[in-house]
Amino acid sequence: MVPNELIQKVEALAKEAQSSFLAAGSVDELYQFKVKFLGKQGSFSGLMREMGKMDKEVRPAFGQLVNQKKSEIEKIYENQESDLKKAAMADRIMAEKMDLTLPGPGLATGHKHPLHQVMDDVIDILARIGFSVRTGPLIEKDWYNFEALNIPEDHPARDMQDTFYIDDTHVLRTHTSPVQIRTMENEKPPIRIIAPGSVFRSDSDISHSPNFHQLELLLIDEVVSMADLKGLISYFVKQFFGPQIKTRFRPSFFPFTEPSAEVDCSCPICKGKGCRVCKQTGWVEIGGSGLVNPKVLQFVGLDPKKYQGCAFGFGIERMAIIKYGINDIRLFNENNSRFLTQF
Ligand code: DAH
Repeated sequence: MVPNELIQKVEALAKEAQSSFLAAGSVDELYQFKVKFLGKQGSFSGLMREMGKMDKEVRPAFGQLVNQKKSEIEKIYENQESDLKKAAMADRIMAEKMDLTLPGPGLATGHKHPLHQVMDDVIDILARIGFSVRTGPLIEKDWYNFEALNIPEDHPARDMQDTFYIDDTHVLRTHTSPVQIRTMENEKPPIRIIAPGSVFRSDSDISHSPNFHQLELLLIDEVVSMADLKGLISYFVKQFFGPQIKTRFRPSFFPFTEPSAEVDCSCPICKGKGCRVCKQTGWVEIGGSGLVNPKVLQFVGLDPKKYQGCAFGFGIERMAIIKYGINDIRLFNENNSRFLTQF
């Protein structure tokens, strides 16, 4: 028979273990108690070690008692562990609960590059009054880029344009004016065309990019005068920048026009008062223009006695810079979304 006091000792220990397990608030805490009571150095193992000091007759019954209590306690431990794990999982699920009714983060969609927006705008404006789009190659024959535009070899105008040469007879087109020649060669007057596109010059700084864009316009008919040109440009500028914007011509020189004029518009940013964009002058330059030089008409086989024409070529980047007050032309090519998303 196991003495009463030993039985009580075992039962007291089992009770203590049970209440400790049930009081544990987390799996970690429970595990600490498991080590304390059921571990190798734990209380139950201690009881078994004490068996050595007991009488031989008592030992088997005592051992049985301890083992029985221990396995009861182990069950309690397992139940408690699984309860705590379930509770922890439930807490986590509550904490991570998704609200399916919340609006999603939204898809970031791209939009047209500001230069293409400007290009589309100017095409729209001129298409409304009967001009249609023509294109030409970026690698252009010397003939179209220069000769037929009355810019012979050794003409100083070639230096003005910092040409990229491909070989002796081909260049990266330095302007969109060659499309004038290509169109006049292929179509009969009246001609009303615009040619937007990429052009190239060996030049790079805050206001020059080796690759930029121009918009060319050509009108050929039997009677065309500077008044038509001025009317066209002032319509175009008012449509693009706003109705209060004025235009002015400054006498200039281009080999393919006679007379030639540079075109300024009153600064759309400061409305002509003077600001950083117009360098305090109230006016900004947007391109060149003029009446088609009769020599150019002759080059393409049109009779200068019968036909006249006017033309202009504007810088697309310049128009965007002026309209939006941008201070560095290189921003257009950097692909920085903080810049691009502003348009
Ligand atoms: N092609 C000229 C340039 O890039 C600009 C130009 C001037 C175009 C006068 C024209 C024009 O059509 O008439 O510098």
